[in-house]
Amino acid sequence: MLKKVKPGITEVVLRDGQQSLIATRMKVADMLPIIPKIDKVGFSSVEVWGGATYDCCLRYLNEDPWERLRVFKAKFKKTKLQMLLRGKNIVGYKSFDDSVLSLFIKNASKSGIDIFRTFDSLNDIRNIESSIKFINDNNKHSQGTLAYTTSPRHTNKYWLKLAKQIEDIGAKSLAIKDMSGLLRPYDAFELISLLKKNLKIPIYLHTHATTGLADATNLKAYEAGIDNIDTSISSFSGTYSHTATESFISMLYKDKNNPYDMDLLNEISEYFNNIRFKYQKFEGSLKNIDTKMLHSQVPGGMLSNLENQLRDLGMVEKLSELIDEIPEIRKDLGYIPLVTPSSQIVGTQALLNVKNGKRYETLTNEMIELVNGSYGRLTGTINKDLKEIVSKINTPNKINLLTVDDYRKLFKLKCEEYNLGKLYKNDKHLMNYIFYPEISIDYYKEQERVKEYGLFDLQEGLGVVID
Ligand code: CO
Repeated sequence: MLKKVKPGITEVVLRDGQQSLIATRMKVADMLPIIPKIDKVGFSSVEVWGGATYDCCLRYLNEDPWERLRVFKAKFKKTKLQMLLRGKNIVGYKSFDDSVLSLFIKNASKSGIDIFRTFDSLNDIRNIESSIKFINDNNKHSQGTLAYTTSPRHTNKYWLKLAKQIEDIGAKSLAIKDMSGLLRPYDAFELISLLKKNLKIPIYLHTHATTGLADATNLKAYEAGIDNIDTSISSFSGTYSHTATESFISMLYKDKNNPYDMDLLNEISEYFNNIRFKYQKFEGSLKNIDTKMLHSQVPGGMLSNLENQLRDLGMVEKLSELIDEIPEIRKDLGYIPLVTPSSQIVGTQALLNVKNGKRYETLTNEMIELVNGSYGRLTGTINKDLKEIVSKINTPNKINLLTVDDYRKLFKLKCEEYNLGKLYKNDKHLMNYIFYPEISIDYYKEQERVKEYGLFDLQEGLGVVID
């Protein structure tokens, strides 16, 4: 028997859909023509920014992420804009000072973000507390997150306690973020029923299709009374991505009571189908469902990345060894969830272990810092051999995080060195520098070059105009 209240639907093709399937390479120019149609659908929100998009705009696409957001705000007339914030890591891969976080949230709010989904890869509540506060201060919707994982210690009791803490620090809603598609349908039903019973704030579900569970999980979440589901338009759905938007809508509604215009959704899907073809070379190798992930818990994007790194080392035959190594390290760290940046840290350490043929013979700096608690509190039991190895390594005294003022001084020096004018006075340019110092300097140097010599793409060969 279908319930009367239907969940809101967040369309994620412009962020997570394209991030999961084509390595976040979609240019804003390929998004703009279809925005008026997406805006008409009636989505509760569209996820458009944050996650890896900020990095990829500067690193690969020669785009300013803030300019992209400005354009989204201008084009979306009625749908709420949503972003993914990595807690204290913001849109980077390490912790930043609260002055940086506050400046970022203020500017993102002013530039048009309505809903901020904030998470911490270690589920350390202290790491999302300040972002929730800053988002609320800017009168925007703060959404706290459970970074979902499975292990003997991740019981419903654990999740409920964390969820209550998130509600208590002032989050306006709660998201279950299942980045690797580990949440099983009946577990989702139980967990969401429990959360609905004990929390006042709305519950959102974000799951990936990688393991083949997502469609069933989303439907059971609906039966348990979920308030909002994330989906991706069908031409950007499945595998590393999400349940298809049209499929989920069709599960809930029959033709005559369907509040969504399926013809409009078909047009949007058709549009993205053509776009996807352009980015073929960035597609991952997964063509269907990967159930091994239920054990290894490796997020999809990370798997193709590691495969490439092994190939570069001439060791591609070691892939399955590498995939088996990841859950071992995760266990040694007390079963942490694998999501940026913990996924990168564990992945790189696994690569080293496999390369050396011995576990923890060498440790990356990030791994040492993770064990030492620099990324947040590790609440599980840490393997005692690993702890002992780390305790014997001399680590420099903890340096204070740089503040916005410190960064501005550094950026000013760089601007003088490279004749970049007074970019350092602009907060958005400054933030590009803070999160991605070398990449953003390259980006601004390129902008200067374009101003002087015109829009030629040197990487693609002389004389090829960027489309
Ligand atoms: Co995701």
